[in-house]
Amino acid sequence: MSLTLFSCTGSKAPEQQQPSALDVIATRVSVRQFTGEKISAEQIDTLLRSAMAAPTAVNKQPWAFVVVDDQAVLDSLSQAVKSSRIENGASHAIVVCGDMSKALEGEAQGYWVEDTSAATENLLLAAHAMGLGALWVGVYPISERVAAVKHIINAPEHITPMCIITLGYPNEQPEIKDKYKPENIHHNAW
Ligand SMILES: Cc1cc2nc3c(=O)[nH]c(=O)nc-3n(C[C@H](O)[C@H](O)[C@H](O)COP(=O)(O)O)c2cc1C
Repeated sequence: MSLTLFSCTGSKAPEQQQPSALDVIATRVSVRQFTGEKISAEQIDTLLRSAMAAPTAVNKQPWAFVVVDDQAVLDSLSQAVKSSRIENGASHAIVVCGDMSKALEGEAQGYWVEDTSAATENLLLAAHAMGLGALWVGVYPISERVAAVKHIINAPEHITPMCIITLGYPNEQPEIKDKYKPENIHHNAW
């Protein structure tokens, strides 16, 4: 399935059709090669607004986003996750963090992971809808990665990095993986 791409700034050509939400969901893929072209501040703003529109337990919004466009910081993040992915021409990375000072208390505190994951998926889908490529690079719960990323972004104690999203214009067209498996579905009980 191909996706008609459109600009997030509203400068859509009249002949371009905005893809449906279902098309965006069905055609999103992880992009690991980027052209090096820079993403605009307006596009970053749209991505962050999309992330923060996510559902969040008790509307706590226990998240924070560190936008990285400094190549030295991008390189350090890449080293921290022992991944060359961030060096592949990405324009930006966004470190999605949990903010424990805003999270629920007790057993429910762990909902910060779901909240930041929902925000991350929103951001990935928005990027795809805007014609950008993105990759979710895991950080939490790998303690070594959490500590390294926290140090690089100079995060205070109550902040836990959850993932790094690398962003840019795609320089590859990865195959869409068909992950639909009927055996994963149960009705009423297992
Ligand atoms: C929690 C999580 C951590 C991930 N970490 C990495 C990573 O460190 N490096 C990487 O290349 N891809 C990473 N990915 C992307 C997955 O490899 C990718 O989503 C999966 O292969 C399915 O491919 P698709 O996104 O194209 O559908 C991660 C995805 C998730 C959800």
